[in-house]
Amino acid sequence: MLEKKHVTVFVTGGIAVYKAADLVRKFIKAGAEVRVAMTESATQFVQPLTFQILSRNEVYTNTFDEKEPENVSHIHLADWTELAVIVPATANIIGKMANGIADDMVSTTLMATTAPRLIVPAMNQNMLENPATQANLVKLEGYGYTIMEPDTGFLAEGYEGKGRMPEPEKIVEAAHQLVLSRAVDLPLENKNIIISAGGTIERIDPVRYITNDSSGKMGHRLAEAARDLGANVTLVTASKLEHPFGMNVVPVQSAREMQSAIMDKFETADIVIMAAAVSDYRPKTQADKKMKKAHQDIQILLEENPDILATMGQQKTHQFLIGFAAETNDVEMYAKDKLKRKNADMVVANDVSKEHAGFNKDTNEVIIYQPDQEPIHINTNTKAEIAKEILYTAMNSIKL
Ligand SMILES: Cc1cc2nc3c(=O)[nH]c(=O)nc-3n(C[C@H](O)[C@H](O)[C@H](O)COP(=O)(O)O)c2cc1C
Repeated sequence: MLEKKHVTVFVTGGIAVYKAADLVRKFIKAGAEVRVAMTESATQFVQPLTFQILSRNEVYTNTFDEKEPENVSHIHLADWTELAVIVPATANIIGKMANGIADDMVSTTLMATTAPRLIVPAMNQNMLENPATQANLVKLEGYGYTIMEPDTGFLAEGYEGKGRMPEPEKIVEAAHQLVLSRAVDLPLENKNIIISAGGTIERIDPVRYITNDSSGKMGHRLAEAARDLGANVTLVTASKLEHPFGMNVVPVQSAREMQSAIMDKFETADIVIMAAAVSDYRPKTQADKKMKKAHQDIQILLEENPDILATMGQQKTHQFLIGFAAETNDVEMYAKDKLKRKNADMVVANDVSKEHAGFNKDTNEVIIYQPDQEPIHINTNTKAEIAKEILYTAMNSIKL
């Protein structure tokens, strides 16, 4: 949802300016195109150069610094902006925005933009509680702007209080929610989607386990794509990847934990995508203390794990079930067999022996199999793009 979005970060002169630098990095990581405007006070805390390097764009600090004769820079920036994030928002900029003051680059651009505004106040508790600040915040809310609640914690003044800037990841999440709430075309809105990801971990003892090469990247990219199409996503993940924002993430280790987390939500799910590499077997017994070297060969007896996809295939009522088949040979035969045997509605097959596809890669190449339909080949692309194609194909089949 933030991908390719034009986000302008308006930085004003609070002590938390340093955290705004990390926020810019996080917006870039989420795929946004970022520009930064700073007040004169903000530049007292951090040099514009920091933001220039992080945003890969020149930083706007002066309304009258008109670099391009064909454009008036504050209007140009205001029109370019699709989401305005004011962070840290000082009591001063809050006062200006609430009262129509436009006397520098930041306040003038904010006056000229029609983009949604996310205001992130950060200040001393007494400044925050001042009736003028409170009245201004109420006024801004009345204008339809989104205001983030400041955190409570250790303030720069050396004591506990309310007024801390929330952590950058929370701000990215709030920005995403705001963009989502304004989006007009969300084909998966109100749909519940469960996605599993990663290779399960089957413990032998507290320090050893059996797992596989799955990184969880395909599942995580699917979860992000579904989120950006408006779905309520539950990501049940055995992966070590960073948890994506804007969804319910359930971390699990073993196949049985994964099954229980998925089945908890199965009844209300509309689509379930099993992108996880679930271990077929687990050690029959798991030692509760580290096993000691025995100075002789040992055997670990394995017992079969539950087949999560097949269980859902038996129990499904309305759910659209998507399985993955990661194979090294006879891909088509195994995929078609899986589709039938597990009563799935779609199987996404990939040949993990290929160099640009499969485990731990950032790219993939897949073939989508559905009952009574010709297979659909999706050529090599990033996992994020492949994820979108899979979801569009599923939506087409479900007639969403
Ligand atoms: C060390 C220092 C820290 C400050 N921290 C904050 C702050 O966290 N929040 C705030 O609203 N003002 C803070 N101020 C006051 C603002 O910098 C001041 O009101 C300034 O006029 C704001 O200008 P601006 O809104 O144009 O950036 C601080 C000032 C100093 C000197």
